[in-house]
Formats: sequence, C-alpha cells, structure tokens
Amino acid sequence: MGEILGLGMTHYPPLAGRDENMSGILRGTLRDPAISAEVKNPANWPPLMQREWGTDQGKAAAAEHRQVLVSGLDTIRSVIDEFRPDFVLIWGDDQYENFTEDIIPPFCILAYERIEAQPWRLKAPGMPGGANIWAEKEDHVSDIRGHKDGAKFLASGLITEGFDVCYAYRPLHLQGIGHAFLNSVAYLDYHRRGWNHAVVCFSINCYGRRVIAFRGGASKFGDTPDPEKLDPPSPSPGRCFDLGAATARVLKDSPYRAALIASSSWSHAFLHDKAWRMYPDIESDRALYAALQSGEYSRWRDTSLASVEASGQQEMLNWFCLAGAMAELKRKPSWTTFIESYVFNSNKCFAIFPP
Ligand SMILES: [Fe+2]
Repeated sequence: MGEILGLGMTHYPPLAGRDENMSGILRGTLRDPAISAEVKNPANWPPLMQREWGTDQGKAAAAEHRQVLVSGLDTIRSVIDEFRPDFVLIWGDDQYENFTEDIIPPFCILAYERIEAQPWRLKAPGMPGGANIWAEKEDHVSDIRGHKDGAKFLASGLITEGFDVCYAYRPLHLQGIGHAFLNSVAYLDYHRRGWNHAVVCFSINCYGRRVIAFRGGASKFGDTPDPEKLDPPSPSPGRCFDLGAATARVLKDSPYRAALIASSSWSHAFLHDKAWRMYPDIESDRALYAALQSGEYSRWRDTSLASVEASGQQEMLNWFCLAGAMAELKRKPSWTTFIESYVFNSNKCFAIFPP
C-alpha cells in the first residue's frame, strides 16, 4: 500500500536573484511602448502595488517577499523530510526548455535515473540576470537522484487505466531539467544544507497556445499574434485534474511513499492582459484559493481553460493536478498560505495535505 503526501509551492524565478532585481519583470513591462503612460504611472496603481513599489522600485518589499517565501519553503521542506518519501513527484511547466518545435507532449513523466544540471548555464524564461542569491558560479552542478522505477510504475499505471501519458528516459533539448523542477529543488534546499530525496519530474504543457509562439515566456503587448498564429491549447484544467486523480489512484496502490508537489506561482502578471500585464489576477486567484482551503474541488474541476488563460493562470495547471489528486483521496489541506503581490509578477501559495 502506498502513502501519499500532497504539497503545493512556488518556483518563482526571481527568488534566485537579488532583492534589487526582484521587480525586474514589472520593470520590463514598464518599458513596453504599447502600454500607455497612464497605466504605467505609479500614482494610478492599486494602493498595495504603490506600497510594494515604494521609492526603491520594490527592493525593500522584495526582502519581505523573500522572507515569507523562504518561510513557506522551509515549512514544506520539513514536512517532506518528516515523511521520508521514496520519491518526490513534481508537477511543473516546461517553458520551451526541454520540449520545443519537434515535440510538445501534453504530459510527460521524466523517468530519469539521475539528473545533472548546471542551473546558471540554463537561460530559462524569467530567471534573473546577474548574480544568484547563493553566489554559485556558472559551472555549479546540481546533482539530483531520480527514481526511474517509481516513474515507470506511474507511467505504466496511468497508461493501463487509460491515461496515455508520455515518458522519457533522458532529456531532449536540455542538459538536466527545466526551471520549474530545478528551482523547486534549489528552493527546498534554500539554505544549502543538502537535498537527498529522489525526484520524479512530471512535465505539464501549461503554456499551451504560447509555448512555441512566445517561447513560454513574456512578450511585448504589441507583439501579440493573431489567435490563429498561436499554438494548439494546453490540456484543459479538468484534464489535468483527472490526471492528478489517476496519479493518486495509481500511487495509492503502489509500494511507494510519494510526495506529490504542485510547483508554480498562481496568476502571472506577464500573462494577464486584463491588467495590461502589470499585475496578476488577484480576484480570480482568491476564488480558487478559497475553494482549495474548503476542499470544494468541483470549483477547480469545472474551471475552463479560457478563464485560466484570461487570468494568466497557465502555470496553475500544475496545481489542478494536485487538486485532482487530493479530491481523489478526499483530503483537505492542514495548512495553507496565500501571498498576494502586485509588483513581484505573481501571487504565491503553499499548501500541505498530510497523509
Ligand atoms: Fe514556470
């Protein structure tokens, strides 16, 4: 009989950089000529946004943001250590990193034996320029244990029950793994005391229509192509939810102790056209957060892809997988926290669903 621990966290790239660069995504948006001066004028921003921006373009607020995020990460890490998993499964997005023009799988289990990556050589979207917060050199290597047997068990179980997922034994276009996975491990070991848990990366095509068209990243407002020039869509929130539920069923009947992690921030400013890409969709995130806290999973299951895209919540498809898994196990979270931010590109959430 397997044991499952459910967790949610962020892999927010600017956390790997320095405080003075944390508002860099917004600063890029402020240079977009297609956005009016009125929208860009801090005097017209929501009050919390003005407060975060302050007189130092968010540097002081960045230190506070870092502190809450690191505290959330520490909590998640201690729960993982206590659980002693055979492997940690991470649902994460691939932002035109391992998967590009030659194939975009909706779902792919990276059944790697071992992961060797040089995080500071990979120029993943959103990763801060300049020095990283740990002052690690460009040739720094992250060496992470995979769990090929567990990954194969899961792929076999999902395919057998009618969920035809892809799997891979080695990377395609990337030496190592994408930022969603790499940052997750780097942040769970924020204090650099070591990370010994085996990791199974479960890649979700969150960026869908923008994965190749926008290379899974930010774009200028004026560069938005006609809808027909975009890529085919990502899997729907409901499909991700069902994948999570199927994952829980397969792992429940496995010999493994598995920690299932949804890794992503929530609504992203640079994907949220309704607010001129200036800040995330706070209202829409709040509604999903309330439903997560109360275990009202039908609210998650019934969310449309159109609404996810309109709210810049593409990366939350990772969380739809987790919600489906927890719904299947009839679990409610024992602890959650929701961190709102206007200036730092996204809202963040942490959650624990104990076995
Ligand atoms: Fe991401």
